[in-house]
Amino acid sequence: MRITLLGHAGLYVETDHGSILCDPWFHPAFFAAWIPFPDPSALDLDRYASPDYLYVSHSHDDHLDRRFLAERVRKDAVVILPDFPTDDHRSTLAELGFHEFLPTRNHEVVEVDGLRLLTNALVAPTDGAIGDSGLAIADGTATIFDQNDSKPIDFDALAEFGPYDAHFVQFSGAIWFPMVYRLPADEKRALGIRKRANQLARAGRMVKEIDATTFFPFAGPPCFLDEALFHLNDLGTDEANIFLDQHVALEHMRSQGVDNGALTIPGTVVELRAGDCTVTHPVPDAEVLRPFVDKERYLRDYQARVAPVIDAEKAAWPDHEVDVVRELHDWWEPLVAISDQICAGVNGRALLQMEDEAVVVDFLDRRVARWEGETCRYRFFVPRALVEECIRRRDVDWVNSLFLSCRFEAERDGPYNEFVYNFFRSLSQERAEYTERFYAATAAPMETWEAGGYRIQRRCPHLKADLTRFGTVDDGILTCAMHGWRFDLATGRCLTSDDRQIFCEPIEPTGEEPDAS
Ligand code: FES
Repeated sequence: MRITLLGHAGLYVETDHGSILCDPWFHPAFFAAWIPFPDPSALDLDRYASPDYLYVSHSHDDHLDRRFLAERVRKDAVVILPDFPTDDHRSTLAELGFHEFLPTRNHEVVEVDGLRLLTNALVAPTDGAIGDSGLAIADGTATIFDQNDSKPIDFDALAEFGPYDAHFVQFSGAIWFPMVYRLPADEKRALGIRKRANQLARAGRMVKEIDATTFFPFAGPPCFLDEALFHLNDLGTDEANIFLDQHVALEHMRSQGVDNGALTIPGTVVELRAGDCTVTHPVPDAEVLRPFVDKERYLRDYQARVAPVIDAEKAAWPDHEVDVVRELHDWWEPLVAISDQICAGVNGRALLQMEDEAVVVDFLDRRVARWEGETCRYRFFVPRALVEECIRRRDVDWVNSLFLSCRFEAERDGPYNEFVYNFFRSLSQERAEYTERFYAATAAPMETWEAGGYRIQRRCPHLKADLTRFGTVDDGILTCAMHGWRFDLATGRCLTSDDRQIFCEPIEPTGEEPDAS
């Protein structure tokens, strides 16, 4: 098996039984905020445009590059479809011209023409674009796991598919938190430090669980080359920056005694055969490190090259061409009306404050209207042009456009509330109904486990990670390593978000004397 890294989460996998193009991304994403890093423009893209199979792990724009897929990729490639709860992913790819689909079911092995495939699909409203996935591939010579941005919560099927020769794992941030929040600098810094540490801890756990011969940090970070966002790049000097790069991640892993990781850049080729792994870079070794160790200069050169592209995209944004209040009222008020779980979870109001207009999404009275000064617990300060563009494109997932752009600021009273963002991810009837069903089903009966003197629910109240693997208890505080959420076991209270509670109870001593032998 031969794998060419295409930058970010892009892989081109060649086997004796066909080729698979995974998550190619080459054009700026999220309102031209995210740019692939390192620069992939030296790749000869025609070499990767005629795969037998296409796999797009989820619908975020840094994985689903509409323009590249529409203009360059052969349309009779068979699309490997993860088992997602809505039809959006398939219909987006169909609109781009793809017509051959290979639907998969979560954790069920598919055999096609000598290839064995297994997808793991994450389906919580918070996973990717309501759906995130990874793909395991075996061709008889090697087995790999393209984990991508997905955060598997069950490992049994993945373990059975292995053992793995290579594991491609995300480690960097893909979020706007805490950077966009209006917080005191020291508080924001402390949050950034903790977020970065959580990301690295989670990647470390994933590497341990998959236990591949070699792991490759990938799927991030992007770089930010619009001058307004340049400060978001991690230049290697800020331990509070969540966009740490591959080189930093590998150094960190090595410091933890994990030294089976390898660095890649766009064009790196990984050959796997008979247990051997050979990594070949497209440039001399001394140049491989340049994007990481001479980063600011590298990014400034890159910025000069892409500035015209960014400027052209910004010039195309609308300017007072959309009646924002009326459009959002007509679009969102019917969605709020059917969103019982979301309304109960938010239990407040959200404000969209633009330069010259403001809209309130009132989850208490189920209204979407011009803001008249009502108290709003969640406040977003957003450029009007981006709101207009989201409306014009009828974006059903504003996380996958506005929020990931980091081109906004936010304030909130109280802790994080995922229901707020899940509303903005669920902006169609199909998505809103799915989100409702998902939350309605979370009251299912639970398994428990024991740790630190407590009987505790086994699945994390956040996104159901298996706490027997990802939970640690220290001094009465349970921490889930998947996203770093913390719970006070004396009360069950979540210390990270105020909308969740964990089931836990002290284990009563039985009164029996221990065995003497
Ligand atoms: S699953 Fe997210 S913190 Fe546990």
